[in-house]
Amino acid sequence: MACHLRYMAKEDIPQVTAIDREAFPTMWPPVNFRNEMGNKMAHYVVACDGQWITTNQESNPIKTGPVRTFLGIKWPFGSKTPDAHKLETVEYISGFLGLWVMVDEAHIINIAVREAWRGKGLGELLLISGIDTAIYNKALVATLEVRPSNIKAQALYMKYGFQQVGSRKAYYSDNKEDAIVMTTDILTSEAFQSRFRNLKAEHFHKLGEVDYRIESPWT
Ligand SMILES: CC(C)(COP(=O)(O)OP(=O)(O)OC[C@H]1O[C@@H](n2cnc3c(N)ncnc32)[C@H](O)[C@@H]1OP(=O)(O)O)[C@@H](O)C(=O)NCCC(=O)NCCS
Repeated sequence: MACHLRYMAKEDIPQVTAIDREAFPTMWPPVNFRNEMGNKMAHYVVACDGQWITTNQESNPIKTGPVRTFLGIKWPFGSKTPDAHKLETVEYISGFLGLWVMVDEAHIINIAVREAWRGKGLGELLLISGIDTAIYNKALVATLEVRPSNIKAQALYMKYGFQQVGSRKAYYSDNKEDAIVMTTDILTSEAFQSRFRNLKAEHFHKLGEVDYRIESPWT
C-alpha cells in the first residue's frame, strides 16, 4: 500500500475534522483541531496515500462541478459557487492520530481511519507512529482510554502491549459508557523495545510501500 506519514498541517484540518466526525459522530463537542495545532503538548500525525484532492478549506469537500440556477435559485440547494481563490490542492488524508505529551506520559487522545480504509493496516501504522512520537518526546509510558464496546481498538492496543490498568466511570458523555484505561510498560525498557521493533518490522513488511521518514523525526 502506498502510504506516507507526516505531522498534521493547517490545511489538513478540514479532512481530519471530517474523519473525526465520521469515527466519533456522537462525541460532543467536536475536537477543535485549530486549537490543537496551537497546543504545545499536542502532536498529530496524518497518513496520506499519495493522492491529491481539491478542496475548499471552508467547506470540505467541495463539489467543483458547475452550479446550476433556476429562477435565480442555486441548485442543488446550499451549493456554493466555487471560489477560485479558496480552492486548494491538498494531500488526501486516510487517517490520523493525536497524542498529548504531558511530562513523562504520552496520552493517545484520538486515532481514526476513514471507514473505507479500515482493516488495511493503517490504524496499526498510526499507532506505531504514536509510540515513536512518544519515545521521541521522552515519554516514559503511553496511555489511552477506550470504550469496553470497542473490541477492534482494544485488540490493536493489546497487540502493542497496552494493558488495562483501571477504568473511568461514565467517561463518555454520549451514552455514559465507562472507559477502560490502558497503559504500556516503560517505553524504553528492553522488553517493550524488542517487542515493538519486531511488531514494527513485521508490519512494515506486510504493508510494503511505506515512507515513514518524510518530514518526520522517526527513524
Ligand atoms: C480502531 C481503528 C483505528 C483501527 O484501524 P484499522 O486501520 O482498521 O486497523 P488495522 O487494519 O491497522 O488493524 C490493526 C489491528 O487492529 C485490530 N483489528 C482491526 N480490525 C479488527 C476487527 N475487525 N476485529 C478485531 N480486531 C481488529 C487487530 O488487532 C489488528 O491487528 P491484526 O491485523 O494483526 O489482527 C479503526 O477501526 C477506526 O478508525 N475506528 C473508529 C475510531 C475508533 O474507534 N478509534 C479508537 C478510539 S479508542
